[in-house]
This record gives sequence, C-alpha cells and structure tokens, in this order.
Amino acid sequence: MCGRAMKANAVRWRVDCLVNQPVAWAERRKTPLMTNSASSSSRYYLTTPIYYVNARPHLGHAYSTIVCDALARRKRALGIETWFLTGTDEHGQKIERSAEKAGRTPEEFATAISGEFSGLWKRLGLTNDDFIRTTEERHKRGTQRLFAELRDKGFIYKGSYTGQYCVSDELYVDGPPGTVCPDCGRVTETVSEENYFFKLSAFERKLLEFYEANPGFMGPESTRREVVSFVRGGLRDLSVSRTSFSWGIPVPGDEKHVIYVWLDALANYITALGYGSDDPAERARFEKFWPADLHLIGKEISRFHCVYWPAFLMAAGIPLPRSVQANGWLLFDQGKMSKSRGNIVRAETVQEVLGADALRYFLLREIPFGQDGSFSFEALVQRYNSDLANGYGNLVSRVVNMVHKYFGGTVPNAGAETAAEAALRESAVRAIAAFGPAFDELNFSDALKALWVLVAETDGYLTAKAPWKRPVDRPEAEHVALQARVLATAAEAIRIITALVYPILPESAAKVWRQLGQGEIQEAVKQGFLLELSWGGLQAGTRFGEPAPLFPRAEKDAVERMQAIEEQNSLSVIEAASTCGAASSGFAAKTASSELSAPAAESAEKGAIMSEISETQNSWDNSPVDSVGVEAEDEALAYETVSKAAELPAAPQVPAQLAPPQVAAPQVVAEPQYISIDDVIKVDLRVAQILVAERIPKADKLLRLEVDLGYEKRQILAGIAQYYEPEKLVGRKIIIVANLAPRKMRGLESNGMLLAASLEGGAPVLAGFLEDVPLGARLK
Ligand code: MSP
Repeated sequence: MCGRAMKANAVRWRVDCLVNQPVAWAERRKTPLMTNSASSSSRYYLTTPIYYVNARPHLGHAYSTIVCDALARRKRALGIETWFLTGTDEHGQKIERSAEKAGRTPEEFATAISGEFSGLWKRLGLTNDDFIRTTEERHKRGTQRLFAELRDKGFIYKGSYTGQYCVSDELYVDGPPGTVCPDCGRVTETVSEENYFFKLSAFERKLLEFYEANPGFMGPESTRREVVSFVRGGLRDLSVSRTSFSWGIPVPGDEKHVIYVWLDALANYITALGYGSDDPAERARFEKFWPADLHLIGKEISRFHCVYWPAFLMAAGIPLPRSVQANGWLLFDQGKMSKSRGNIVRAETVQEVLGADALRYFLLREIPFGQDGSFSFEALVQRYNSDLANGYGNLVSRVVNMVHKYFGGTVPNAGAETAAEAALRESAVRAIAAFGPAFDELNFSDALKALWVLVAETDGYLTAKAPWKRPVDRPEAEHVALQARVLATAAEAIRIITALVYPILPESAAKVWRQLGQGEIQEAVKQGFLLELSWGGLQAGTRFGEPAPLFPRAEKDAVERMQAIEEQNSLSVIEAASTCGAASSGFAAKTASSELSAPAAESAEKGAIMSEISETQNSWDNSPVDSVGVEAEDEALAYETVSKAAELPAAPQVPAQLAPPQVAAPQVVAEPQYISIDDVIKVDLRVAQILVAERIPKADKLLRLEVDLGYEKRQILAGIAQYYEPEKLVGRKIIIVANLAPRKMRGLESNGMLLAASLEGGAPVLAGFLEDVPLGARLK
C-alpha cells in the first residue's frame, strides 16, 4: 500500500513504505511466547479478535477462537477464574456497503452474520463466557465513554481532510482531482471531511518505553520487531471519526461523526466487561478482570493492538493488557484462507466428518503457534488416524475393554511396581512437567508432542506386557497379577493423558473420563483438577464406565467427503428475496436453537445471509480509515445456505462398516424436517438442455455449462467435473433450479443449479427424464 496517504489541515499523513514491506511472518519464533503468567494467578481474562460480519466464519476464524477456548479450558481446570470473550465487529463503511449491496439494512445484515459466528461457536462447543456485538447498547455506551474520556483529557482534537479518495478501495490517495487509485486504477473522488484526531504522536516515546519494560507484552518476536520499528519510524496523529457515512457509534456531542471503526472495535475488550456501565455489578466485573491477560490476534492486526490500543488506554488512564500474541495464518491452496480468495474451508465440514475434537487437535498439533500453517484434508485425516484413531483412541479402547473383560470393569489392585511400571510412571511425570509450560507459552504443538510420547510409551508397555496372552509356562495366578498390574498402570497413564489433553480434546476427554469411572470431567474442572494432577490418582476398585467409541478410523473417502461438502456448500445459493425475513430473524432463530443438535440448529439457520468478505486490510497500511472490500469487488453478494446441513448428523460420520466393531460410529437419528407447500413452490425447477460443457482452468471440480431453457440461455457452473466428461453432457436434458440468485465463482457468473442425486462418496448423478420433455417446462 505504498503511495497511500492522507492530507489533513492539521495533520499530514506520511506513508511509511518501509513498514509496509512484506515481512517474514512465517519465520520461526526466536524466543518463546510469553503470556506474562506471573502477572495473574487467580483470574485470567482472554479475548479473540472480534470478527467482521462480512462473511460467514471459516477455519481461519475458528482457529483463533479454538486456541482461546483451549487456553480458557486449561486455566479453568487449573482452578483459575477465567473470562473468555469473543464477538463480532459490526460497524464501519465496509459493513454498511456490504449491507447496501445486499439490499439489507446494516442491522439485519450484521445480525444474521453475527448469528453465524455465535451459532458456530456453540455447535463447536466453545466455552466463551460472553459474546459481544459492537452494535449492542452496552458497547455503544462504553465506547462513547472512552471517546469522551480521551477528549476530556485533551487527546482528541478536531481537524479536517480534503483530498482524493478511492471508494472501491476505501483509500486516501495523494494527488489532484482526477488522480487514479494506485491500487485499482479507478478514478478517485474528491472528498472533504471533518475528522476528530487522536494525538497518537504524543505516545511514541511512552510506547517504546513500555515495550522495553515489558518484553513479554507482544509476540511472537517477528510481531514485536515490526511493532517496535513502526513506532520508532514515527507516529502521526490518527483520525478517529468519520462523517461520510453513518453506520457506526456517534461521537458523543457531535453526532454527525461516527467513531473510527478500529477505536470502536478495540473498545470491545473493556465494554464487554462493563467499562462505561452504570450497573455496579458490571463495573465490578471490569475491575475484577481488567487488564486482560491475553489478547489473541491475527498477525495482520498487530499494529492496532500493540500501538493504537495501548496508546488509547494510556491516554484514558486505563491499565494496559498484559499480553498480545499473534497467530499466523491458516493457508489453504497456498494462500491465506479467506472468503474473497475463494479458498475457505468451514469448521462445520470437519466437524461433520471427523468431529470438533479432531479439528482442534489438528490445528493445535500441526501448526506451531505464531507461524503460518497449511491446512489440507489429507494432512488432517492422516493426523487424525495416526494420533487419534490409532494412537490415543486405540489405547483407551484396548485398556478399557480389557479391564471389562478380565476384571469385570473394576480397576484391579496394581500390586508391586516393577521396573517397567516405574519407567512408565516416570514418563508420565515427565509428560506432566513438559506439557504445562509448553502449553502456557502457547506452544501447543510441543505440548502435544510431549504428551504423545506418553501415549506411545503406554502403548509400547502394553504391547510388551501383552496381558491378553498367557504363555503356557506362566501360572494362572501370576498371569492375573500381571494383568492387574499392567492394566491398572496403563489406565493410570491414560488418566494422566486424558486430564492433560482435556483442553484440546474436551469432548473425547469427557467420554474417556466416564469410561475410567471418574465421572463428569466438568465436575473435575470445577475442582481445578489439573492443579493437583499427579501419578497414582486412579484407585483400585473404581468401576469403569461402558466402553464407547472415540475416534473411528477415517477411511480414504473422508477426504473426498469433506471436499464434496465444501464443494456443495460453495455451489449452494438460494433465492435472495425469499430469505429476507429469515435473514433478519436468523440471529433470534439461532439463539433460540442454541441448545438443539447441530442439524436442528443448522436447519434453523437456513436463510441466514452470507456475503463475500474482504480481508485484505494490511495493518501496516497507513490509511486512517477502515478499509472496504477491495478484493471482493468482482464478487456479487449472495445469499446462501448450508444446503447439506439439515441432512447431516452431528456426530462424526465414518462409514460404520469400515470402523472396527468396538469403535462403531454412533447412530444419530435425525427428526424429519418438514417444509410447507409454500416452500416447495418457491423453488423454480425447470427442464434445460446443455448446449456447451467445458472445464474451467485451475478448477478441478467445476464445469462451465451453457444451458437452454427454451425461453432463455444461461451459464451455470456445476461441481461435477470429476464425475462427468464435458463432451458427454452436451445435448443432455437436465433439471435446474432456475430462480437461484446469481453467484460468481472463479470470476464467472453462475445462474442456477443442476439437480443431481448425491451418492455415497459424493458422486452426483444428474436428474433427468425418460420421456421427452419440452425445454423450460416447470416441475411442480
Ligand atoms: N474486526 C477485525 C478485528 C477487530 S479486533 C478488535 C478483524 N476481523 S477479521 O474478521 O478480518 O479477522 C478476525 C481474525 O480472524 C483476525 O485475527 C484474523 O487474523 C483471523 N483470520 C481470518 N482469516 C484467517 C486465516 N486464514 N488464518 C488465521 N487467522 C485468520 O480483523
């Protein structure tokens, strides 16, 4: 974004090209991440970034939220009073314009997408204590209070800006009227705007001193270096209000201004706790939990969190957060996963096929925190099978089944320890010692590696002792004693593994906890069970629970199934007009259905809206305004539903016949979901004939079809390239959904959707007729 600059009467915005250079984000962290753990012992407050409501959540968003959830769970299990906040960032020109394009009010638009986020977090079982929407009254009140505080203390003053502006890129551009935007080449508009400015320049030295005195404040190291060099390069005052649009929080006392969306968004971390509230209970929560122990953020928004936010807080006289840590990006198909790039994967897809725990495990094990990490279905399935199905899951299943088989489900007395048991005990002690510090430094990958050493050693111990096999020369009594010793010892190791892995695999750990006869793990969490975790907690005589499947082995088709779900999702678009009401009520529907099973909840969400997102804002870009969808420019806003959601059971689905009997997939019987005749007639199904069918470069799954409806010809993109040779489709009569809202994929517009039967493994079979049917005939 070099060349981006803003002129102001009182303020001159200087573009610092240096800080906008690409940085080696993916470099390995040189120093461990610190979370300033010494600073808080009895309570812990952590936050995710609040997500823009331009598009439905994808894995990139889920990543930060899952990391925070795992941290929050461990803190609670250590007996620490924890407050975990997430939410949605709903104001600003970007959202206002997206809503306008979609023909919705910003409120409707934001409500629907925000509901997608909160609904997904619920379905994934995330344990956020609060979910803030920046459109809520409590946030508005608190943000205005913060603004007023800054102004009253003399850190905000009025200035004005006149210059060139690129509406498409939301970019202030240097030059005379008629200048073209350096980014997109469009002719800029001349704008003249009165703004309030924050005296950021006054905080340059204070910030540098603060960073110096608090080396653990921000990380990883690459982020720290970037931030320090940015501040050293000189800080200019920051525009903190806008007048050219209205979708924001009004500046108190000067309501034609709305507060700059980043000041508004950052304030969520305190307004959600009760800052600015008149309610003593809420203020007490603020006093109790602020300052935050950890703001977990994406690496591209570090400037906002490590420069602007501390400066605002210093100016307002509010203590600074203890730590800001940046995660790297989740990459898919080589690029940052983002809706505008069209390379997203949804968390729901992984949850549907392998379960939420598999996703959590993969993200935390596979990606060293702070670095970019590639996501692929193949790597996910491989990791799932090797570590969860064949590793931990299989170990639990073997031991629990043998305790049932040989000891009627009661933990036997281990008797005297031999060298082998002592070695396993020591290994467990090492795992406990290694896991905690690594995890607390956000080094989840190493924590899990250390724990899986114990999984492997327990497995090896079991195999070496082979309690299921009695050599002919071993007396019966001796064999029973060996079985007792080995199974009690292995079960204790599993108890340790399960307790430690609980924050990462909460659902599975809960199941194993019951199987080990330990009751509900939530109860143990309430007792702060991790604090006292040590070898020897499993008592002889404990009654085991029934064995239950944990991680059914995923067969090869798991990858294809996830791909097919994603493909289907990206192809499914519904008629915009018919969802208008549903869209605006989407949030309410989700809130009400939050306790429902996943399919029911998803089904309640049908009609929720979705748009393309722009995630291109570079935090080192010096523009004083919030950026608008620069990448999404050619992508039409579309209303979409998760078409398959209602058909899919919540539990992980692995073909039952492929799973070993002891780990068969649980049967989930979905309630029938009825629709009315009115719903049916909304869908305009028509007979069409394929005139042209061809592959699309670099899109393995898509075919471009030109179809004739008799009354018109149109283009449809269909995800059938892997199953149909294009040449064989020409001339074929098919059925299409003719009133689907148009959608762009790979830069091409698709006008409709083919109907096909979806077979096991995702292969579609196109619907058609035996008799000849005229083109354009409607199916009723
Ligand atoms: N609304 C701002 C944050 C305000 S916080 C006061 C924002 N929103 S965002 O929706 O664009 O991004 C939210 C978070 O999601 C960021 O931390 C961002 O890094 C993260 N991710 C979005 N896509 C991502 C990946 N592909 N990978 C990892 N995280 C990514 O910025």
